[in-house]
Amino acid sequence: MVDSHGRQPLLAANALSKSFGGIRAVDNASLEVLPGSITGLIGPNGAGKTTLFNLLCRFVQPDSGQIIFDGVSIQHLQPHDIAQQGMVRTFQVARVLSKLSVMENMLLAAQHQAGERFWNVWLRSSTVRQQEREQREQASAILESVGLAHMAQDYAGALSGGQRKLLEIARALMVRPKLVLLDEPAAGVNPTLINQICDHILRWNQEGLTFLIIEHNMDVVMSLCDRVWVLAEGRNLASGTPTEIQQNAQVLEAYLGQ
Ligand SMILES: Nc1ncnc2c1ncn2[C@@H]1O[C@H](COP(=O)(O)OP(=O)(O)OP(=O)(O)O)[C@@H](O)[C@H]1O
Ligand SMILES: [Mg+2]
Repeated sequence: MVDSHGRQPLLAANALSKSFGGIRAVDNASLEVLPGSITGLIGPNGAGKTTLFNLLCRFVQPDSGQIIFDGVSIQHLQPHDIAQQGMVRTFQVARVLSKLSVMENMLLAAQHQAGERFWNVWLRSSTVRQQEREQREQASAILESVGLAHMAQDYAGALSGGQRKLLEIARALMVRPKLVLLDEPAAGVNPTLINQICDHILRWNQEGLTFLIIEHNMDVVMSLCDRVWVLAEGRNLASGTPTEIQQNAQVLEAYLGQ
């Protein structure tokens, strides 16, 4: 589908469904993310938002439906192939490796390293060393930009909840993605850090990165998102501008009914 400005969506999910036993977690749900947008995905607890992310990134196999990312059908790809295509995600509970340093967490995310092949590591070719140097520089620059550079050598386990969320987003940027899916970036984060995270998202967006964000914090949704999709009981309830969604009686009812 093409929008009124003639833009193809960067991501289009069409009629996705996923059941767990008797629960239809995602039920014929569709969603579009336009290139350059910050798109919101909201809905009451248990609405199927995280499951939809899992389907989009192929962490979970859909029962039915289609996913087109950047003009290509991706429903037969593996999660690492999808990251390679330029779509990465973060988790509702940040998954950082606590026993590794902040820098090591960043470097682990780097893909396509020549060093992944053991004979390359063994030979320690100049290509590998060059690539490692570039990745370290890239990681340092990203950590610097989010204010975590001074903690680069600390264990990730020493970070606060909010800093872990920030590290997870920073790590996602290591693969130079086109689209980043954030699952509740503000949950459990103190208000000062929430504002900082929002500022970073807006800056990265201005630099060309597209976002799809699940978030319960409506201030965050209102201040960041161009368009919002609402799920309830696995199904599409509404989509529109944040203001339209805020004034939508059905949406209000779905939240009050939870
Ligand atoms: N792996 C699973 N096995 C069984 N049921 C699951 C699984 N994952 C999700 N569910 C169920 O699917 C439904 C949707 O869950 P999901 O986590 O996607 O909701 P959500 O919108 O992300 O909620 P929240 O806002 O609380 O994070 C819930 O009823 C949940 O219990
Ligand atoms: Mg969730």
